Amino acid sequence: MQGEPRVDGRQHADAIRDLKKRWGPELILLAHHYQRPEVAALGDRLGDSYELARDARDAREARFIVFCGVRFMAEAAEVLRRDEQVVLHPEPSAGCPLADFASVEQATEAWRGLSEILGDESALMPLVYMNSSAGMKAFTGARGGAVCTSSNAPRAFEWGLRQRRAVLFMPDEHLGRNTCRKLGLAPREIVLYDPYTPGGGLEPERIRAARAVLWKGYCHVHTAFTVEDVAWAREKHPEGRILVHPECPEPVVACVDGSGSTSYLVREVAAAAPGSTLIIGTEVSLVDRLAAEHADRKVLPLRRSLCFNMSRITLAHVRAVCEALPGGEPLCLPEEVKRDAFKALERMLAI
Ligand code: 13P
Ligand code: SF4
Repeated sequence: MQGEPRVDGRQHADAIRDLKKRWGPELILLAHHYQRPEVAALGDRLGDSYELARDARDAREARFIVFCGVRFMAEAAEVLRRDEQVVLHPEPSAGCPLADFASVEQATEAWRGLSEILGDESALMPLVYMNSSAGMKAFTGARGGAVCTSSNAPRAFEWGLRQRRAVLFMPDEHLGRNTCRKLGLAPREIVLYDPYTPGGGLEPERIRAARAVLWKGYCHVHTAFTVEDVAWAREKHPEGRILVHPECPEPVVACVDGSGSTSYLVREVAAAAPGSTLIIGTEVSLVDRLAAEHADRKVLPLRRSLCFNMSRITLAHVRAVCEALPGGEPLCLPEEVKRDAFKALERMLAI
């Protein structure tokens, strides 16, 4: 057969290792837990979105931050980086459909409508999930609000509720509701804002009674899990513990044995006794990796739900970015977006 010789994964991995050796501490590769196993294996740091944001900030010696995760995560690193650093995202098409649920235009419109009903611009505390564009983080930062992730959402909600009458949380309805329920808010204090319906689809009295206004958006990877999946898993593995990510719908979270951030799930599997069974409701690449790393316990996916966007980043992309150094196309965001998004991310790291 004619054409380019086929390059297998091992050759890419070897080439990346050589490049990492050549650049030493000047090059750091950050990888999210949901990355393909072969990409995750090369990460200098492997973490959830909160840990990787902190790692990007703390990577003092690194000149080049190669971020293997979806775009919003790389953007957060771009906002937090120091002047002499650059952030490279190996595959620009790796986005996040959840992040796309809220645009700055929609948020501006919602903010205006809600503030008008509440009679005060400072009645609401905006909180934005890490899974959002840099523009949405800037929108939040400019209004005194903070970013949060699934690992610090309860702390962020408490922080917001201490200071203002209610929080506006964007764009994940389910993380929002699960967090509110964990904090003991009653269902009538939680309202859902639909950006595609006039006034968010909410009566003014409901908005005035609310302590949390949640944005109507979801992650299709985590809403794939159902209460039927849980019932099936309980029947098949009555000895198993079922743990899920809080982006799952509330009825699923209510009938499992525990829920928490990606890092919580990683920690729980690591701490489980040999011989135990754990059934995990989150992105399947992570569950498969945990199963391989802990062969002395049974780690099973609640359902095989893949984040297609996370898996867009391949070794070939990572190699291409590393080979192009010190050139390439670093991420670039408008200065005013970086300035205001920085405020919201800094508040998250301080909360
Ligand atoms: P973490 O914040 O737990 O890393 O999750 C990110 C994400 O994309 C979950 O779907
Ligand atoms: Fe976005 Fe869901 Fe993928 Fe996380 S798992 S990156 S929220 S689509």
